[in-house]
Amino acid sequence: MVANSLEQNHENKTTKTKLMNSSSALRKRFLLAAYRIFSRFYVLFSRDPRYQQAVPLALYAPWKIDKEFRRTYKAIFANTLVDQYRCYELWSLVEQSQKLGHGSIIEVGVWQGGTGVLMAHRALQCGITDPVYLCDTFSGVVKASDKDSFYKGNEHADTSQVIVERLVEQFGLHQVKILKGIFPDETAHLIGDDKFRLCHVDVDVYQSAKDVVAWIWDRMVIGGIIVYDDYGFLGCDGITKLVEEQRSLPDRLVFHNLNGHAIVVKLA
Ligand SMILES: C[S@@+](CC[C@H](N)C(=O)[O-])C[C@H]1O[C@@H](n2cnc3c(N)ncnc32)[C@H](O)[C@@H]1O
Repeated sequence: MVANSLEQNHENKTTKTKLMNSSSALRKRFLLAAYRIFSRFYVLFSRDPRYQQAVPLALYAPWKIDKEFRRTYKAIFANTLVDQYRCYELWSLVEQSQKLGHGSIIEVGVWQGGTGVLMAHRALQCGITDPVYLCDTFSGVVKASDKDSFYKGNEHADTSQVIVERLVEQFGLHQVKILKGIFPDETAHLIGDDKFRLCHVDVDVYQSAKDVVAWIWDRMVIGGIIVYDDYGFLGCDGITKLVEEQRSLPDRLVFHNLNGHAIVVKLA
């Protein structure tokens, strides 16, 4: 009797979660399509010479045939704002970071947990058992400033720590530590003397990203990778500015990727 009611309860919860997931997946598809249309019009009518629709001529698309990636992406799809091209890059970089031998992984800007869980899952698959820190205010974007043309603050507040915990649990990711609060100001002290192999910065605005990198740079191992999400996106010009400021620094390599990532590798 008790077992039956527990089972029923579990089924109800699963159905509810599925329904919620499919409605946020629909919302996400709609937003992506709207962004595509808007950006086409923007480049047609804007006189800003820094922007254009850039479509690579190369056709190689390994994200389409990587079965494990496809399975994982499908499972996190409703919990991420990040498209499959950038998700696949994170997936591949986690795998590559295995060569660095040691170091934790950190994501600042987790929202509903999609990319963070994707990276943590890939890490375990690759035999990387170091901690994966997932850091978010869970109350939206902070530190928007005059360097950011579109963000005002509090965007992406439609999440909670519980949503991320559920996804972490679903994947059985025992190495994940969720840090709630502004990073680094309120939560970095909770991290010991870890060194980092990979850092995903997905905070949308200039000052937040700058503070994250100022905190983590000396803690990155040589060869360690920082991935900036939203580089080149119309709405996130603060991130593009921050990355451009780093181009001439002698201790790092800066890569521009057309998918909306900038990748920085630590040299010294
Ligand atoms: C675009 S969302 C992250 C998207 C996520 N990576 C995904 O898979 O869709 C940006 C997130 O950054 C968080 N954020 C921005 N600045 C932050 C900071 N300094 N510390 C912690 N979280 C921050 C916001 O709360 C928001 O959830």
